[in-house]
Amino acid sequence: MALPVTAAQAATQCEVSYSTNDWPGGFTASVTIKNVGDALNGWTLGFTFPDSGQRVGQGWAARWAQSGQEVSAQNESWNGAVASGATLSLGFNGSWSGSNPKPTSFTLNGTVCNGGTPTTPPTSSSPSPTTTPTASPTPSPTGPTTPPGPKVDNPYAGVRGYVNPEWKAKAESVAGGNRVSNNPTAVWLDRIAAINGTPDSSSNGAMGVRDHLDEALRQGAGYIQFVIYNLPGRDCAALASNGELGPNELPKYKSDYIDPIAAIQADPKYKDLRIVNIIEIDSIPNLHTNTGGSPGATAMCDTVKANGAYINGVGYALAKLGAIGNVYNYIDAAHHGWIGWDSNFSPVATLLHQAAIASGSTVDNVTGFIVNTANYSALKEPYFKVTDTVNGQMVRQSKWVDWNFYVDELSFAQAFRQELISKGFRNNIGMLIDTSRNGWGGSARPTGPGPMTNVDAYVNGGRIDRRIHAGNWCNQAGAGLGERPRANPEPGIDAYVWVKPPGESDGSSTAIPNDEGKGFDRMCDPTYTGNARNGYSMTGALPNAPISGAWFPAQFAQLMQNAYPALS
Ligand code: BGC
Repeated sequence: MALPVTAAQAATQCEVSYSTNDWPGGFTASVTIKNVGDALNGWTLGFTFPDSGQRVGQGWAARWAQSGQEVSAQNESWNGAVASGATLSLGFNGSWSGSNPKPTSFTLNGTVCNGGTPTTPPTSSSPSPTTTPTASPTPSPTGPTTPPGPKVDNPYAGVRGYVNPEWKAKAESVAGGNRVSNNPTAVWLDRIAAINGTPDSSSNGAMGVRDHLDEALRQGAGYIQFVIYNLPGRDCAALASNGELGPNELPKYKSDYIDPIAAIQADPKYKDLRIVNIIEIDSIPNLHTNTGGSPGATAMCDTVKANGAYINGVGYALAKLGAIGNVYNYIDAAHHGWIGWDSNFSPVATLLHQAAIASGSTVDNVTGFIVNTANYSALKEPYFKVTDTVNGQMVRQSKWVDWNFYVDELSFAQAFRQELISKGFRNNIGMLIDTSRNGWGGSARPTGPGPMTNVDAYVNGGRIDRRIHAGNWCNQAGAGLGERPRANPEPGIDAYVWVKPPGESDGSSTAIPNDEGKGFDRMCDPTYTGNARNGYSMTGALPNAPISGAWFPAQFAQLMQNAYPALS
């Protein structure tokens, strides 16, 4: 005989899974609640932390609270109504000391989930627990229902990249832009406001992190790229990309910038997307080359070296973001025309390792490194090699090469990868090369080696990088789009990428007041005669440029014109 349906039966029934990604002292918890009972209108999840050192920090998709070891999560206004059979995803970032065991029991509106026994027996007429028809006591899922798989070796391999619709629209506003506008470019999170989107800013889009991730899901993209770029005292050796945080604002960087980004990226909704984070352009290299009485030293670089803001900030970003199963971190490693000298090569690799193990991070949070971000260094110099000699003189002695050991990005990236592995990084790390603006095609591109009259004539006649000096970096005249983004182009290289969205300015050619903390760097002024870092050369910057990050159509037109491979 069928048991009578009682009030106790027509109540809440739930399956809860709880999984964490842990790192020393911290974790991200993902919780899913499946409503296997009647429809709910308002809910509260409860559980008890087994250890007294476990704390809930910032949470999402619920109002989280903790008292002692008791934790509760109450619905937000928008997710209180839950249909029968529906699943909710919520989570939080937490901290722990000692150990981080999972709670063993969960309640929803006071009812124990996962087929357990109620803590508070139902009142009045309920049958005794032994006779309660438990309907279908589902075996309790002890782990997550959909654990993030182990990270893939190369997140770019075999999948399509996310096309940022905001960049695409800008590209298509310039004649011929539709030839390249479907390429994936990175989304720069260059200030706290960019996390939620900044409708009135001149250099950021209105879309925030969630908007981009949702759009990536809609596109069916396999990977999406973000640039994490907001360190305290950012861009310490230059002015064009100075940021909003002062050198002592590491706590704010963590709580108001990295934590919220991590919270969004950890949303299980995005678990099947490979989320790539490019970590803090130029920062760690600056600590070596632009500090301590070196010719390029600046007071700001000395300050952020002394107070540990960069090392600890990068370590924190790596730990927090790397803990998420489907997130891939690549740290910026500058470019050959900066790190290629042996006085910089090994010391910078050492500093990168220091950052990777700072703030509780480990090298496991590092998928690889990126070189040439937002720079113009040629991928390959086809017409001269660093080992060539002319009249008994080494190419290294030429004014252009200036004793560097590398003349292009590919050879540098592959060699630096080995150096990084020798410092303790995993031997499967991969390199990215930003090829957005290093094409150097067009009519000025040499078609063969230079004359053998002397080493300078040979190098200058044959080099495809037509900059006045390899230290020039702002809105370079004559540059073209480089290789289109693609995975596994060369051994050790995970992908060619377009991290700097082509057509976005590197900095204004004259001072322009703005509310983004962007300064005026004379390296962006075409009339400036240079400094120690560019051998007192002219800057080669295009005139009439807007502030960094703002759309610069004339530059985009030139990049297309000088693209290499050429556009058809
Ligand atoms: C700027 C950022 C901008 C990025 C991409 C950087 O130089 O500082 O504001 O988002 O370039 O264009």
